[in-house]
Amino acid sequence: DNYLIIMAGGIGTRFWPISRSTNPKQFHDVLGVGKTMLQQTAERFQGIIPSENVYVVTSDEFADLVKEQLPFLSDEQILKEPQRKNTAPCIAYAAYKISKKNKKAKFVVAPADHVILKEQLFQENIKKALQEAEKEVFVTLGIIPTRPDTGYGYIQYVPSAEDAQKVKTFTEKPNFELAQAFLESGDYVWNAGIFIFKLPTFKKELEKHQSRMAEQFEEGLAHYYTPGEEDFIKKVYGVCKNISIDVGIMEKAQEVKVILSDIGWSDLGTWQSLYEINEKDTNNNVIEGNVIAYDTTNCIIKTPHNKLVVIQGLQGYIVAEQGNALMICPKNLEQEVKKFVEDATQLD
Ligand code: GDD
Ligand code: MG
Repeated sequence: DNYLIIMAGGIGTRFWPISRSTNPKQFHDVLGVGKTMLQQTAERFQGIIPSENVYVVTSDEFADLVKEQLPFLSDEQILKEPQRKNTAPCIAYAAYKISKKNKKAKFVVAPADHVILKEQLFQENIKKALQEAEKEVFVTLGIIPTRPDTGYGYIQYVPSAEDAQKVKTFTEKPNFELAQAFLESGDYVWNAGIFIFKLPTFKKELEKHQSRMAEQFEEGLAHYYTPGEEDFIKKVYGVCKNISIDVGIMEKAQEVKVILSDIGWSDLGTWQSLYEINEKDTNNNVIEGNVIAYDTTNCIIKTPHNKLVVIQGLQGYIVAEQGNALMICPKNLEQEVKKFVEDATQLD
C-alpha cells in the first residue's frame, strides 16, 4: 500500500541559468555522477516502494523526458500537468488518482531535485515515517539548519526521546530576520520537503484548508484512469488555486510530526547549496569550466569548457553560463535570481 509521488514539475528558477524552463535541473546530472537527479530520487526508494507504485507528476512537456529517464514507468504512472500550479494541486492530483485504485494507500511525497548522501539512514527514516503515518499525522523530515536560509520551511518542534517529534509551528520561507531568530533559538529544523501520510489524513486536511481544491480533485474520481482524464485535468488546472503544500496545508495543519534526519541532505535549489556541497579550492572557489581566476575568492563559477574565462578580483560571486545565457550575481543575493527570471520572459 506504499506509494511514491515524485514532484518533478518545477523549473528551478533560483538555479538559473543552469536550470531552464525548457530543461529544468531535475533532468540534469548536476553532480556529475552519471545519473540525473530524477533517476537518483527514484533509486533512493528501491526496496521500500515497489516500482509499480512510483508516480511522477510533471508538466505535459516533460512527460517524454521522464519516460526516457525512468523507463520502468507505465504511462499511467506519469501524471501530466497542463499548467504549473505549485505543489498542492500536484499532490492532490496524484493522491486522489491513486485513491481510486487503493483506499488504503500511504504516500511518500518527494521532490525530484535533492541530494541525499546517507542513503541507508534515509531509508531507515522513511520506514519510521511510514510507521508513524499510521496515525492521523503528517510526517516530515527535519534537517538541522546551518544558516538563516530564507528559501526553506522552518519547523518548530517539541524535543522528546521518540523517533518523531511533535511539531509546534511550520513557517514557510520566513524573511531574513525571522530565519536568523529561528536559527539562533535552536528549536527549529528545516523542512526537507518530503511528506509522508496516509490517504485519509491528506483528504481530511485538504478538505479543511483547501476545500475547493478537495472538491475539484474528488470530482476526478469519475475520470482517473479513463480516456477522459486528460480533458478533466485540463479543466481543473485551469481553475484550481496556485499554492504550495507548505502554505496551503502544512502551515495550517495541527497534527504534524518531524523526524530529525542527519542524512546528508541538500536541496540543490540555489547556487549557495551547490557551492556548499562541492569541494573548494585553496581560494574557497568552486570552479567548473576553463577558468583562469586571479585574486578571486568565495566564488562559484560554472562556464562551458569550450570557453576560456578570465576573472580578476572577484569576491563572493556566482558566474554561470549555460546556452545563450550568462549570469553574474553576488552570492548573498542569490534569492533574487528567481525575480530575474520572473521579470524577463526572454530568460526562459
Ligand atoms: N509537478 C509539479 N508541479 N512539481 C512542482 C511544481 C508544480 O507546479 N512546483 C514545484 N514542483 C516540484 C519541484 O520540481 C521540486 O521538486 C518540488 O516540487 C518542490 O518545489 P520547489 O519549488 O523546489 O520548493 P522549494 O524548494 O521552494 O520549497 C520546498 O522545499 C524546501 C526544501 O527543499 C518547501 O517544501 C520548503 O518548506 C522546503 O524547506
Ligand atoms: Mg526546491
